[in-house]
Amino acid sequence: MKNKQVLLSHSIYTAVDGQELVDGYLVIEDGKIAKLSAGEPSAAELREAQLHDFRGRTITPGLVDAHTHLVHGGSREKELALKLAGASYMEIHEEGGIKSTMRATRAATDEELLDKALTALASMLKHGTTTVEAKSGYGLDKDTELRILRINQALDKLQALDVVSTYMGAHDTPPEFADNASYIKFMLEEVMPQVKAENLAEFCDIFCEEGIFSLEETREIGEAAQKMGFKLKIHADEIEPMGGAGLAADLGAVSSEHLMAIAESDIPKMAESGTVAVLLPATSFFLRSENFAPAKEMWDQGVTVAIASDYNPGSSPCENLQMAMDMACLGMGLEPLQILKGVTLNAAKAICRDQEIGSLEVGKRADLTVFNAPNPNYIFYHFGVNSVTHVFKDGLQVLRDGQINQAALQRVIRAKSHK
Ligand code: NIG
Ligand code: FE
Repeated sequence: MKNKQVLLSHSIYTAVDGQELVDGYLVIEDGKIAKLSAGEPSAAELREAQLHDFRGRTITPGLVDAHTHLVHGGSREKELALKLAGASYMEIHEEGGIKSTMRATRAATDEELLDKALTALASMLKHGTTTVEAKSGYGLDKDTELRILRINQALDKLQALDVVSTYMGAHDTPPEFADNASYIKFMLEEVMPQVKAENLAEFCDIFCEEGIFSLEETREIGEAAQKMGFKLKIHADEIEPMGGAGLAADLGAVSSEHLMAIAESDIPKMAESGTVAVLLPATSFFLRSENFAPAKEMWDQGVTVAIASDYNPGSSPCENLQMAMDMACLGMGLEPLQILKGVTLNAAKAICRDQEIGSLEVGKRADLTVFNAPNPNYIFYHFGVNSVTHVFKDGLQVLRDGQINQAALQRVIRAKSHK
């Protein structure tokens, strides 16, 4: 295969301000974007390159899913009856929730955890995702948390998607600890230094919620994590308005996530600090909540808004980021181009990868997603189906006509093993 490729489309979404949509072509060379231009490629350009005719389809940067709880054991469909009977998320949490997944995760072998996550990643790829953030937090003891983070690292090398690892021991206090204070001491003194020493996670995340970790506890864990060299994320204001978003801004966290119950006065604080709002509308839907995060207000006030799946076994068992995109449109009222930015450039910002991925700009990695849609609006309008037909990872066509292209996939994996 020639290492130069030309992709034609009438609808190329770049995520670049002021030139979001290009009717033209894109050149990939050596796995990078080499050119993006309106109009037609020249005869000379075509002679040199392999041609992909995507006219009638929309090309976007590869989708970035900036919030998932990828590695876990078991599943919780038992909770469906409780949900239908009207139980709230916190009522289910008290019945088992996170702790039931914790038990299943502790009991699972590395192979079982790895296989389950690989299946989820293959599904994400078929739905257009090329990079995923993955949080630990279903082990809670030292051994299982370290296992999950090592699996995150192994997963990165075993398949096409890049996996960005986050330590989230502060997802809940496990039953073997008498109180939050003793568990926090254990994380700070025994687990996090080891995570850092083995370089198993770039980020640290904390579930700041009534009945989970208080605002003061979140500050304590967050400041300690930053001192150790972790970048910070906070699950904030998901159910109760705790002031978590304001704290994230105060601490200079990279992102604060969920935000369904964010205080209005915290929105300008996030805009000012540049803390990315990672919003999870599929979670609102799955929790049967009428509450979506105030995405439009945040956008209008200058907050960087990303949209993610929150893939996890309790509040969003869904690998398909397009589902969250549809909910962001019809549930939150965001515009198609805002959402596309939310799952590309802004999502890349939420994981500090915006220098290399997230937009179609010369020099960036050629991670691309192709939708069976003649324009961006159609992606959102024709809902409930998988609209992704092709995916390129570092210039290699790993998904072709909806099918995994094994030869390209193996080349991506080989290239990763040399990194
Ligand atoms: O992001 N909010 C905290 N954690 C997950 C769900 C956890 C669970 O129910 O297993 C979330 O929604
Ligand atoms: Fe989450």
